[in-house]
Formats: sequence, structure tokens, C-alpha cells
Amino acid sequence: MPITFSPIKRRQFLAGSFAAGLSAVFFPKNIFAHNIDIKQTNSTDHWVFLSDTHVPSDPEKILRGQNPNKNYITVRDEILKLTDKPKGIIVTGDFALDIGTPEDYKQLVSLTAPYIDAGISVHVALGNHDRLNNFLDAFTQFKKEKSPVFNKYVTILETPNCNLFILDSLFEPEHVSGYLGYLQRQWLAKELDARKEKPALLFAHHNPGDIVDNQHFWYVVKPRKQVKAFFYGHTHVYQQSILDNVHLINLPALGYDFQNGKQPIGWIDSRIADNGIELTLHPIDKTRSDNGEVKQFKWLR
Ligand SMILES: [Fe+2]
Repeated sequence: MPITFSPIKRRQFLAGSFAAGLSAVFFPKNIFAHNIDIKQTNSTDHWVFLSDTHVPSDPEKILRGQNPNKNYITVRDEILKLTDKPKGIIVTGDFALDIGTPEDYKQLVSLTAPYIDAGISVHVALGNHDRLNNFLDAFTQFKKEKSPVFNKYVTILETPNCNLFILDSLFEPEHVSGYLGYLQRQWLAKELDARKEKPALLFAHHNPGDIVDNQHFWYVVKPRKQVKAFFYGHTHVYQQSILDNVHLINLPALGYDFQNGKQPIGWIDSRIADNGIELTLHPIDKTRSDNGEVKQFKWLR
């Protein structure tokens, strides 16, 4: 359930396994395409990627040793200090803590407002720990009926170097796994076919292996060579793999990790060129060895 916060609507804002036969191959070392240099490109798209913020209403609540409210604010303040302001922020789901309560979203409205004040749009694909109606009750400018897909909320962001497709894998009520559905897959195919001229990057909350209709999803993606990468969260692990020459990029969580500090908690700065993408990891813990780690991914098809 992607939801877009428009900077120009600040006042309104405040008012309101891959299945058998499909196997992703993990080659973390081999996917770094060092022969590209994003920074030498004259025109790059600058975006920030977040995932699994898991913000609770209680600003003091601690989960797995982390304070998600504090993490959200810490990262937000780092992003707002960037001299090169990002065009926008994409959050790949699990925006709220556990069952997406009205109180959680009220807190998120407050925490997200400074981005809007700074003119930075925020786009959210709700995850399995979100709840659509509670979200919409808090963010009143969003309406189900505005989405081109029934009972799903999908968005296309057209940028100079690529088209960003924010997909909706939320499978209510209370399913942990994700589901896109026939209508969304048909819509995706049609909109991709209408945008063959630029690379397409797809974003959703669930990892492909935990999307119930992943095989049918991939029937749409595989033949459409403009799809270069699929970004997702859900696992709270920062990792990358390749399937059919499509980069599968699992974004790190911001709320907390499941591996007692082995996984980074933080945010990703991205530069999107016409031939690939550069990702820079910014963990909250600046003493980590992967602080500032840069990975470049060349488009493979
Ligand atoms: Fe999560």
C-alpha cells in the first residue's frame, strides 16, 4: 500500500520462497559493478531509501534493544542536513510498529512532518505490520479511490533517469506474507509497457520469496527488460542478489534488527544514473565497519 506525501500538501498532511522453479541467486561479491561510476554522470537522481521503521506511538518504547522513534528522528535529522537534498524518500513498508494502530500513525504524522516542511516527498509502501484504514484515518489526504488499482494503492514516480514503481504487497487482514493480486499485476504490465524508454525500478515491502503470487509477478517482470531492480524490506537484512539479470536489493531496517546487531540499522542514500545505481549505507552506529559502504549496481539487461 504505497502512500505518497506531497510537499505541497503540508497543511492537509497535518490534518490528516520464490516458489518452485524460481530461485534467486545470491552473489554478494559479484554484483558490485565497479566499471560504472555514477558520480561522473552529469544527471543523477538522488533518493533516500528506508525500510521497516516500525514506529510505535510510545516514543520511549524499546524493541530488541532499539528505540524506533529515536532511530527515525536520528536518521531524519541526518537526511535533513544533506547539502544535496534528495528528491524524495521511499519507505518499503512496516511503517508502524505491529498492527498499525491509530496512535502509531498519529506519531508518524508528527515524525514525518519535518520532511514535508523541507520540501522532500515521502512515499510509503505499507507492509504486513501496517493497516490501511488506520493509516488513511491519520493521513486524511489519501483516498483509496485515487489509486488506479482497486483496494490497492500504487504509485509511479517518473524521474529523469528512471521510473520508480511503488507497489502494494500488503495482504490484509493480518497475513504476514505479501500479495499483489491480479489487478495490480495487470496494471503493472500495462504501465511498464507504456514506459519502455527508461529503466524501471520496483519497490514493495515483501521479499519475492514471501509474496504469495510471486510466480505470476515474475511473469510480468521477466520479459520486460526495462525492469532493472526490485527493492524490498521485510527481512531486516541488507543483502543483494540477482534473478534473471534483475537486481534484488533487500534494504536494511531502521526500527530494529533480528540478529543482535549483526545487521546494520540505518538508511540508504542512492544515486540513480541511466546505467545503474549507487547505494551508500549510513548505519546509525557510526563505529560499524560498514559505515559509508558504497555499492554500485550496473543494469544487467
Ligand atoms: Fe519489518
